[in-house]
Parts: sequence; C-alpha cells; structure tokens
Amino acid sequence: MNQFLEDVLKGLSAKDKYLQSKYFYDAKGDKLFQKIMTSQEYYPTKCEYEIFTEKTAEIVSVLTELNTEFDIVELGAGDATKSFYLLKELVERKINFTYFPVDISGNIINQLYSQLPQRLPELRMQGLNGEYFAMLEKAKILSNKIKVVLFLGGNIGNVPHEKAGEFCKAIRKHLLPGDLALIGFDLKKNPKTILDAYNDKAGYTRDFNLNLLLRINDELKGDFVIENFYHFPTYDPSTGACKSFLVSSTEQQVNVADESFHFAEGEAIFMEIAQKYTIEQTDELANKSGFTPMHHILDSKGWFLDTVWKCCEGF
Ligand SMILES: C[S@@+](CC[C@H](N)C(=O)[O-])C[C@H]1O[C@@H](n2cnc3c(N)ncnc32)[C@H](O)[C@@H]1O
Repeated sequence: MNQFLEDVLKGLSAKDKYLQSKYFYDAKGDKLFQKIMTSQEYYPTKCEYEIFTEKTAEIVSVLTELNTEFDIVELGAGDATKSFYLLKELVERKINFTYFPVDISGNIINQLYSQLPQRLPELRMQGLNGEYFAMLEKAKILSNKIKVVLFLGGNIGNVPHEKAGEFCKAIRKHLLPGDLALIGFDLKKNPKTILDAYNDKAGYTRDFNLNLLLRINDELKGDFVIENFYHFPTYDPSTGACKSFLVSSTEQQVNVADESFHFAEGEAIFMEIAQKYTIEQTDELANKSGFTPMHHILDSKGWFLDTVWKCCEGF
C-alpha cells in the first residue's frame, strides 16, 4: 500500500479524525500556499521577508563568523521566497557554497530548478525531493562542509509543541557539532491577528485545506463531497496552538479506496497545527535538543523570530 493511502486510512479511522498536513503540497496545493503568502492577513511571510531582505547582512555575518566553508540545506524550501535573498547575498559576496533545497513536493523542486538558475545563474544547487530526515542524510553524503540548515516560515510550527523537542533532537542527530540551524518561529501576539491569518477573506486557506480532500479523491479513489465540509480555524492564546479543522456540515459517509468512513454532523478532521512561541520557549527548545541558541533576529513589529542555533558537542 502506498504511504499516502496508508496515512489517510489511518487518520480517518482514528477516534478523532486527522490528516497529515505534509500531504497538502501537490501542484495545486503549492500554488494555493503561494496565494496564502500574498494574502493581506498572512503576516508570517511578510515579517520573515522583511528579515531576509532588510537584515540579510546580519544573517550573513553570523554565517561567515564560522570562518569555515559551509553548504546550505533548506528543509521544506517551498518556492524559496525568503531564502532567495540570503542566497543572492552569498553569491554576490562570492562565498563558495551549494544550496540543497529539500521538499516533499516534486513539483516545487522542479519549479526551483526552472526559476532559481534564471534569477541567480551563479548559484550551485542540488534539489532533494523527499522527507526532511531522509534528505538531510542525503545532503550529508553530498556535502562534506559545515551544514547551515534553514527551516523557515511556518514549518517548525507544524510540529505540535509537545513533539517539537523530539523533532529538533532528530534534526540534531543528523548534524555534527559546529553545524548551524536557522529556524523561523512565529511568535505569540494578538490572538485576533493570528486567527485572521488562518482565515483570510479571499478563502485561500480554506481552499488549501479542502484541496487535500480533492487530492484524496483524485489519487486514492475517494468520494469526498467538498461542499459538505467547511474550514474552521481555532487559536488558543494560552497554549499558542493555532489549529485548522475541516468540519462535516451533515451526517455522511465517505469512501476512500475500499474503505468507508462515517461522519456525524459537526464532526471534524484535524488538518494542521501552526504552533506559536515565545522567544524564551524557542531558547528552551534549543537547549533541550542539543543546540545552543546563538543569535535572535526579529522583524520590526517583533512578530516573527529567525533564530540561529549551533549544534553542541557531545550530544
Ligand atoms: C508552509 S510551506 C513553507 C515553505 C517555505 N519554508 C517558506 O517559508 O516559504 C511548507 C513546505 O514544506 C514542505 N514540506 C512539508 N512537510 C514536509 C516533509 N515532511 N518533508 C519535506 N518537505 C515537507 C511542503 O511541501 C512545503 O513546500
């Protein structure tokens, strides 16, 4: 059985139904995410874009302080909207590095291959299509330099807070002392600002979530009736958990491959978490996962943090 089918059947059979958000990203999902990034309400991209365009020199100086050659591995690179500016600065400064964008979406890796060489002809790039950790292992074989791992945007937030330590330890295990991670964290702020970002008026986030049901219909012989589900985001300011659900508007049965699933009216499928942090929580996360926090870079509103962590010895 293919992994996508296995994961979907498992999620829909659970007492509290869920789907894994890594499956959002087919060609349509990639386009919808790009639309979300341009929506007025989706501030994380704007904040991190400001950091990567206005504080590029600060990021470069943290990397060049290493005084050794490095390669860049970007986990969940997407269309490299923000990392592009760092890559451009490094290329212009004639720094000798290779860029390894990692993404589960083959479509986005192809897009990077068709667009980045046009925008940045001197960039050395090798795309890695697959899951984070398997591709990090591949990058280790392909590069013998210090790794600078970029993990930007909302990606770390898609890991629930209680599992983030385990996840960061897993990243650390694939790295060596001296390697760096530059991780983007969306910070806690006015709850309404956060909730609005996941409920844009144009409906891109709604369509992005519903697109996974369409993908299941197309690829796994599903028969979801899209009109029978509505998008329902929530934000809990005490825990920082921002969650997206698709809720069944009626009692219904849905078939996927040869299995049937019953939905009560009002029953939800948990789709994705976008965890929000305080700066102190990100430092704690680094310290308990084998990293030392080295440098904080914030946007002008103080809404988003890009933090640089160094892999400690003896982990
Ligand atoms: C929310 S987008 C963010 C893209 C980019 N980091 C940014 O900040 O603009 C997440 C990206 O991570 C990729 N992704 C999600 N889960 C993944 C996984 N388990 N392994 C590899 N890539 C993954 C998706 O395909 C998508 O391109």
